[in-house]
Amino acid sequence: MPLKLTRRHFIASGTALATLGTPKVYAAGFDELRARVNEIQLLPEKYGQTQIWGFEGSAPGPEIRAVQGTQVQRRVFNDLPDPTSTHWHGIRIDNAMDGVAGLTQDPIQPGESFDYGFILPDAGTYWYHAHNRSFEQVARGLHGALIVEERSAIDIDHEEVLILDDWLVDPETAQIANTFGAMHDLSHAGRMGNYITTNGTYNLTRNVKRHDRLRLRLINAANARVFQLGLDGLEGWIVALDGMPLAQPKSVDGLLLLAPAQRIDLIVDVTAETGSAGHIVQLDRNESFSQVAFEVTGEGSSARRENPKPLPPNAYTKPDLASARNLALLMEGGAMGGMRGATMDGQMSSMRDMMQAGNFWAFNGAVGGMDGPPLADLSLGETVRLKITNDTSFPHAMHLHGMHFHEIEPNGSLGAFRDTTLLDRGEVREIAYVANNPGKWLLHCHMLSHARSGMMTWVDVA
Ligand code: C2O
Ligand code: CU
Repeated sequence: MPLKLTRRHFIASGTALATLGTPKVYAAGFDELRARVNEIQLLPEKYGQTQIWGFEGSAPGPEIRAVQGTQVQRRVFNDLPDPTSTHWHGIRIDNAMDGVAGLTQDPIQPGESFDYGFILPDAGTYWYHAHNRSFEQVARGLHGALIVEERSAIDIDHEEVLILDDWLVDPETAQIANTFGAMHDLSHAGRMGNYITTNGTYNLTRNVKRHDRLRLRLINAANARVFQLGLDGLEGWIVALDGMPLAQPKSVDGLLLLAPAQRIDLIVDVTAETGSAGHIVQLDRNESFSQVAFEVTGEGSSARRENPKPLPPNAYTKPDLASARNLALLMEGGAMGGMRGATMDGQMSSMRDMMQAGNFWAFNGAVGGMDGPPLADLSLGETVRLKITNDTSFPHAMHLHGMHFHEIEPNGSLGAFRDTTLLDRGEVREIAYVANNPGKWLLHCHMLSHARSGMMTWVDVA
């Protein structure tokens, strides 16, 4: 890793630190979760306050933390000027609690509330976010961490939940740019922010001791940014992806890609010298920035530990590829994609007609959404093998609700077990899963502007 790291914010160098205070942590049980408008010090203080939409008025919202197998109950109040809903991303949940406005529930109208209650079947790092007009509501701040603890303790000294985000902010006014649904964002890489934060601050710093062992739970809450991360002064192992433990910890020996909605759990040992700092490094256009700094204030134990053990596995049925039903999803459209038209609301439409409706992408030749027919009607317990072809000029992060899937390795074996998979432009990836959760489950690009403009479908598991 390059050693000359800078902390940056979006225009000039900052003077004071922006602090949001420690988010409230609720015990499992019934609680209010109020989505509301608030003014917070998002930017360094010389810029003034920013109006956000946040759960309990903060962005990220309060961390929800509970033990595997227990229940979470939240009454979500909508104090926003717009209808909303709340999705519990990555949880193998009852369909009625999935929080997809327009598919699994009606949106919660301003002044109204909705009761979400669900069991947490799997330990891991999850998150929750608005799921109505997500391309605007998530960008305004409606998201937070949902942490499901293992039933047994993990051998670490500290744990940090790190929510990476980017914001599109006008530095003159300190306000979030009101350009939601801009044609360029819909048709290109999505809404990219100009101000990058971790847990709502641009210079998150933690004090650690040398040789401390940390568990870092990284969550990408950005609308479209794929974070490219590295470690400096930290030796790390990936222990889980999208909440699900790897069979064996995998040592970090290069860049980590964290696409929108994805999570990576790392175990890291602090190897930086006392008086210096370790960093999570973010790479952007050949420059490196410190995303999170770990200042080493002293010596913990005098020696390194053994390599970490795997996390306890979650109980999940492995797909049997031999009996799988084969499905295909062709992703087309967008700028420089060469698509000439697609079916929209059942009618063949030109690209120009599509654009007029703010649609730029198609799945299997049709502008996607929740109103059209499902990609597939699946019977409960059926195994699916889905070939996704990204025939566009942009990367996409495809997310399936309700069930995790395996990425299939080029050699045909079952690879990483995730809920969101990143496909680079031109890339083809097969995924496989057992459709063992009944209901209507969305499958969409988590570049949220893309989901808004055609990259959305669903499967019906009956
Ligand atoms: Cu994290 Cu359909 O979303
Ligand atoms: Cu996309």
